Formats: sequence, C-alpha cells, structure tokens
Amino acid sequence: MRIAVSKGRILQEALEIFARAGIVPEVDPERSRQLILPCRDSDLELVILRAADVPTYVALGAAELGVTGSDVLMESRIAGLYEPLDLNIARCRLVVAGPAGAAACLTRPRVRVATKYVRLAQEFFAARGQQAITVKLYGSMELAPLAGLADCIVDLVDTGKTLEANGLESYQTLAAISSRLIVNRGAWKLHHDQVMPVLARLRHAVEANQEHA
Ligand code: ATP
Ligand code: PRP
Repeated sequence: MRIAVSKGRILQEALEIFARAGIVPEVDPERSRQLILPCRDSDLELVILRAADVPTYVALGAAELGVTGSDVLMESRIAGLYEPLDLNIARCRLVVAGPAGAAACLTRPRVRVATKYVRLAQEFFAARGQQAITVKLYGSMELAPLAGLADCIVDLVDTGKTLEANGLESYQTLAAISSRLIVNRGAWKLHHDQVMPVLARLRHAVEANQEHA
C-alpha cells in the first residue's frame, strides 16, 4: 500500500509517528530527492507530495492512505475520502488577521481578503453578511495588507511571530488545524484487511506520541 505524505513541516512530525508505528522508509525523505520511498520490512511505501496534492492522490486511488492538514481538507472538500485519525501534529489555527487595531474591517459590508483559502474565506464572510473580494495568493500572506493589496488575510498562525513581526494581529479564529490520516473509500472497503492493521498501529503511535509530548 502507498501512503501519500505532505512534505514540509508535516513530514518531519509525521515521520516520528510513522517510526513509532514501525513504518520506516529505507532512505531518509528529508535528505533524498526520491519521491517513492519503500519502507523497511513491509509492503508499504511513502510518496512525498505538496500538502494540497495529497487529497487528490488518495481520492483518485493513486495512494490508499494520506497525511495532510485539516486546512487543506476543509478547503478542497474532495469526495471519496475517509478521515479516521487526527494525528495531532502540525497544529495551528486558521484566522482572520490584519493590521493591529484595524479589526473594524470585520464590520464593513465589503472587505478585501488575501488568502490561499478562498472557499473558507468566502464562507466565513458570507455567514457574517459581508461581501468578500478575495485575492488568491500562495505564500507570504502577511505582506498583502502592508502592501495595500487587501484589508485583511485568512491564513495559518502558530506562534504568532509572523503576524507580530509585521505589525498584524489575529482578529478571529476560523478553525483549529492539525494533520489528519485520510483513506481512499474504495481501499477502505476492498483492502480492509491491509488498511485496518496500519490504522491501528498509527492510532497507538499517536497515543504514545501524546503521552511523550
Ligand atoms: P507549499 O510549500 O506546498 O506551497 P505550504 O507552504 O502550505 O505549501 P507548509 O508550510 O509546509 O506548506 O504547510 C503544510 C501544512 O502544514 C499546512 O497545510 C498546515 O496544515 C500546516 N502548517 C502550515 N503552517 C504551519 C505553522 N506555522 N504551524 C503549524 N502547522 C502549519
Ligand atoms: C505559515 C503561515 C504563516 C506562518 C505562521 O507560513 O502561512 O505565514 O507559517 O507561523 P507563526 O505563527 O509561527 O509565525 P510558512 O512558514 O509556511 O510560509 P509561506 O508564507 O510560504 O506559506
């Protein structure tokens, strides 16, 4: 079976949980440029992808299992997936943020929002009765209000250091974020005997990880 794993900060923490579950790639994915990584003593292999591509691989059956952020899952809302386990890693918050002291933009009828999470931002502002004019960006979101591109941003916050360093503050939290194990629905039914033991090992590993946190 194949497990699609987000590269970047999720990968580092996911590898620790995998190791506890006895899932150990033969080469170190953080050093190797190899994208398909067979695991020691098993028929499992890891494929290393961008976070946003993980649900696509799993939903279309190119990987049976996957690990990606709940932010990505909420935004993409791809069908054909089960989400049986919260790995409780890469934890952060999805927030509306903007220049310190300028939260009044949350009360205006129209607001310009820079974000990677266009769908979630649209839904958040629509529920408040505000019209959101969204600007889709792919990184360095905090720059947008400073450069006059937007009134506020919808983005991830962990330590809050990036906001603080740029004179911004969080106005409101939309969701708590962590990484999830996802399973292709077809694989869940057809390969139940292979999926379940891996899920059980990962569940125990997550519990052990939390005890040692
Ligand atoms: P890419 O590098 O592929 O463009 P990215 O910049 O979103 O994507 P990462 O920054 O590694 O890649 O983020 C991947 C996932 O890690 C996010 O979807 C989220 O679930 C989590 N994440 C992102 N930023 C943080 C953070 N500051 N603290 C904790 N988790 C985070
Ligand atoms: C993420 C996120 C914030 C930052 C928050 O960016 O988009 O910018 O981390 O973390 P903090 O609250 O601990 O400062 P990332 O580092 O992935 O860079 P990016 O702008 O390229 O997405």
